[in-house]
Amino acid sequence: MKPINVGLLGLGTVGGGTLTVLRRNAREITRRAGREIRVTMAAVRNVERARQQYGGQGLVITDDGGAVVNHPDIDIVVELIGGLEPARTLVLQAIANGKHVVTANKALIAKHGNEIFAAAQDKGIMVAFEAAVGGGIPIIKAIREGLTANRIEWVAGIINGTTNFILSEMRDKGLPFDQVLAEAQRLGYAEADPTFDIEGIDAAHKLTILSAIAFGIPMQFDKAYTEGISKLTKEDIRYAEELGYRIKLLGITKRTDQGIELRVHPTLIPARRLIANVEGVMNAVLVKGDAVGATLYYGRGAGAEPTASAVVADLVDVTRMATADPENRVPHLAFQPDALSNEPI
Ligand code: NDP
Ligand code: HSE
Repeated sequence: MKPINVGLLGLGTVGGGTLTVLRRNAREITRRAGREIRVTMAAVRNVERARQQYGGQGLVITDDGGAVVNHPDIDIVVELIGGLEPARTLVLQAIANGKHVVTANKALIAKHGNEIFAAAQDKGIMVAFEAAVGGGIPIIKAIREGLTANRIEWVAGIINGTTNFILSEMRDKGLPFDQVLAEAQRLGYAEADPTFDIEGIDAAHKLTILSAIAFGIPMQFDKAYTEGISKLTKEDIRYAEELGYRIKLLGITKRTDQGIELRVHPTLIPARRLIANVEGVMNAVLVKGDAVGATLYYGRGAGAEPTASAVVADLVDVTRMATADPENRVPHLAFQPDALSNEPI
């Protein structure tokens, strides 16, 4: 069968990791996808730098994202630029051109997901976004597929690696906030604008997505209460420790009588609890279903290859489904809310 052609938008931390994993594990990935997944085009800002790092193997590198999404030979567009624009315009253009989309961009999905999914639905296009939440943890697949029999009661967890890394390093090594943040940036964990991490906005984007998937509601980022870790001091962390607690930035979404609650804020957790011992860049998400009870998902929440693991999993899923007869496609990659608002359902 002929290869499926992929165009990457972005070859930074996640884009570079994705290309590396696809090249390194090409044989296994081809076998699992049923056909070769070939990256033929990539768009970046600095073309020369990208050519030096990733050029060759037939990869065309351009500074024009439009050339990728409009190219007739591209079957799947993988958006790894980040931010709202030009990501939104390029994704909508890709969909209009009949190309399937994979993205790791939680800001884009949380803020424009409703528009993007509606456009995709009209065209019979798949939009996959596993990497947008929890880095390498397949949490979206777990909720949508593994827990699909359940009425989800709540979802709660550590869903930002940068802030968990900062809190861990401040507590364990007594390092100052700014120094640890700089290290998180160097390691490729932080957002392009790290305010999104430290003010809880990135966690709120992810919580919005989890909430939509878990409760079958539209993306409602504006409903999330959002508080980050920027006001925490070393003393807060030390006092919590002395009292037998750890401070973690948690995202929590649950059903209430008034509707679905979404909140992100620093939380005191007894040190004996599992989630209090999730350290560094690791993420952990608890999901409570009415049938299964509480379940826990743990793994690397950020970084090049852990995130690429989720991007490539989506690529394999989309390839399998794009190859199947459209009549027989499993509809789980086309997110449609069950309800129109965040009222309990
Ligand atoms: P980077 O900043 O490392 O990479 C961004 C890439 O996009 C770069 O290659 C950049 O080009 C390119 N780019 C930026 N603007 C344009 C443009 N207008 N046209 C063409 N190319 C452009 O970001 P990350 O890889 O860290 O993040 C990418 C996405 O993945 C974001 O949405 C982020 O939130 C998400 N994500 C990140 C994770 C992580 O651990 N880093 C984990 C999970 C999700 P150039 O290199 O030339 O500057
Ligand atoms: N900046 C994000 C984090 C990247 O630290 O969790 C992964 O989504």
